[in-house]
Amino acid sequence: MQAQAREGYRGTGPGDITPDGCAVQLYARLPVGNEPDVIAAAVPSQARLLELGSGAGRMTHALLERGFEVTAVDESPAMLERIHGARTVASSIETLDLADRFDVVLLASFLVHAGDPRVRQGLLETCRRHVVDDGCVLVQREGADWHDQVPRETRHGDGVVRVLSSHDVGDGVRSVEVEYVFPDARWTHTFRSRPLSTEAFEQALQDAGLVVDRYLTPDHTWVQARPAVPEEDT
Ligand SMILES: C[S@@+](CC[C@H](N)C(=O)[O-])C[C@H]1O[C@@H](n2cnc3c(N)ncnc32)[C@H](O)[C@@H]1O
Repeated sequence: MQAQAREGYRGTGPGDITPDGCAVQLYARLPVGNEPDVIAAAVPSQARLLELGSGAGRMTHALLERGFEVTAVDESPAMLERIHGARTVASSIETLDLADRFDVVLLASFLVHAGDPRVRQGLLETCRRHVVDDGCVLVQREGADWHDQVPRETRHGDGVVRVLSSHDVGDGVRSVEVEYVFPDARWTHTFRSRPLSTEAFEQALQDAGLVVDRYLTPDHTWVQARPAVPEEDT
């Protein structure tokens, strides 16, 4: 049985589709990019990582290979079934409440741009709740002007990813449509995105008890944040 789709999110194509419209078979075949390198350069080797929205383990497996211990969280059990070598937890991120705390919490894949601000704050509060006081949270955010550079396409392995459209659906939210075309299959993904200025992004972190330490990449898409104050002092 498929879990209920999140409002404004949908996907088409072969295999299971997650509530946010991602295709499991697609994410199981997409090659990993430079994300594990960015992460590995920013955090201590051997760190214990909590990866939120891990999907089918595209980044998880590369991080395990680099010697990190990873706990992978996703609301899609079908995604998690593809992960090997990591502890997996099937849960929505917003409601996650593990007894454990981690050296590093990862919130990648632009999840911080959730259309609903309450979801976004839930995601960031989960990051804060699960990071040790001297640890860090790594967030991947959209590049500036991404919604203006449409249509655009990039190659991923033997497939092509095309951002077909991004249109305003009101209240500062965009609806984005992407297609993934491979020789043997085609998937589409429609999702909501709330672009965030640097100020709005940093305010959202602050509202969740996090503060930006540094931007890790020249395009400012990867951000390292830390707890604003130890939780017991709040
Ligand atoms: C775009 S995919 C990216 C997966 C993986 N991070 C990667 O880069 O390959 C997003 C994943 O996050 C999960 N996800 C999105 N929102 C979520 C939420 N609020 N709680 C739990 N999982 C979520 C989806 O089920 C999906 O597997």
